Amino acid sequence: MTLLSVRDLVVRFRTHDGTVYAVNGVSFDVDEGETLGLVGESGCGKSVTNLAVMRLLPKPAGRVEGGRVVFEGQDLTRLSEAEMRDLRGKEIAMIFQDPMTSLNPVLTIEEQMVETIRAHRAVGPREARDRAIELLGMVGIPSPELRLKNYPHHFSGGMRQRVMIAMALALEPKLLIADEPTTALDVTIQAQVLELLQRLTAERGTAVILITHDLGVVAGMTRRINVMYAGFIVETAPTPELFAHPRHPYTVGLLHSIPRLDGPAGEPLIPIEGTPPDLRWAPVGCPFAPRCAWRVAQCWDENPTLEPLVTGVPIQMTGARATHRIACWNPPTAEEASAGRPLREGFVPAPLPTRPSDGRAVAPLLEAEDLVVFTPGRDPVTALPGARSLPEPPGPESQP
Ligand SMILES: Nc1ncnc2c1ncn2[C@@H]1O[C@H](COP(=O)(O)OP(=O)(O)OP(=O)(O)O)[C@@H](O)[C@H]1O
Ligand code: SF4
Ligand SMILES: [Mg+2]
Repeated sequence: MTLLSVRDLVVRFRTHDGTVYAVNGVSFDVDEGETLGLVGESGCGKSVTNLAVMRLLPKPAGRVEGGRVVFEGQDLTRLSEAEMRDLRGKEIAMIFQDPMTSLNPVLTIEEQMVETIRAHRAVGPREARDRAIELLGMVGIPSPELRLKNYPHHFSGGMRQRVMIAMALALEPKLLIADEPTTALDVTIQAQVLELLQRLTAERGTAVILITHDLGVVAGMTRRINVMYAGFIVETAPTPELFAHPRHPYTVGLLHSIPRLDGPAGEPLIPIEGTPPDLRWAPVGCPFAPRCAWRVAQCWDENPTLEPLVTGVPIQMTGARATHRIACWNPPTAEEASAGRPLREGFVPAPLPTRPSDGRAVAPLLEAEDLVVFTPGRDPVTALPGARSLPEPPGPESQP
């Protein structure tokens, strides 16, 4: 059953610097109990998409300017603030990257947890406190009765993140949005916290949207992945399919820029050159075009929509059999995806057009030297900052 259905979501920020085109018509569904990964480079709109779902966009600059966010049949964009407050925490909860921004530093953990539970459930203080103790124990906090009296700053980063998970799960929400839940933690603690999150949500049948830069994390924890770029979803597929057969040049680039445990030893890493576009410019053409080794002339003018790889098939939006879809005019072949570069005889990426066909500036800030000049056989990169080994993705049957 579909739990969340986002359709054509458009989010803009109106700033002194102009309009920021943060999310540009994003559509996706999440089923009950499903785990969805959302990946993409910094600034591509992952957090803003989910803040819009939660109606927590920074005000007054951030606004939903189009689309629908339907949760259990209700369009959240039309609810009153009071109705939305009631829904947050109870039906949809969010874990933020930095727990210090969402835990109140001047209240004890007990005060915060009891208040959260009592705001949504008709229970007395003692019952709420017992529930808080149970939850802290469940997330592996030793001596939970004593730790309830502590303030957030008394906890280490990993323990604070556990408190956040306990608070997020306190009301047994149907959907949990975890925005980079472990990036502030060291690698060992990260693994523990993620394992905990996975176990608790699987036990309760909670649907999860996991936002991360880290493909290793989504490989192990999600059933399906949306890849975002410049405020668009550019590829979506079940997790094993995306790792085995990436078809959008950006995803191909992402997968080639990190080491894989299942790849051949000594395989060179290929970085994605260039930087994402400045979102203060209205998108024209494919936003990935300046960095894309596969671009053709059409890419400068027309932005492709997300379409199934195989035309004519009914589109399945969710689940392990979700339809693999990409937004691309000239997708890499399987061999090219595996090589990480075009292999077609004599193919060169289309140059920046001198006269845009519709009279608009194609990429106003772009100079010819910003384009990817693909040079096969150039020195491979052997280490990237922050790159971690990529575990093998799960098989389709290993996920609930
Ligand atoms: N308060 C704001 N005012 C103006 N622009 C904003 C604001 N918050 C976000 N943006 C812009 O919206 C775009 C999307 O930002 P978002 O935070 O969703 O990126 P992200 O994909 O979550 O990146 P990261 O991986 O770094 O968290 C960015 O260009 C960002 O600069
Ligand atoms: S081939 Fe064209 S449409 Fe596809 S990602 Fe590259 S620039 Fe975009
Ligand atoms: Mg973010």
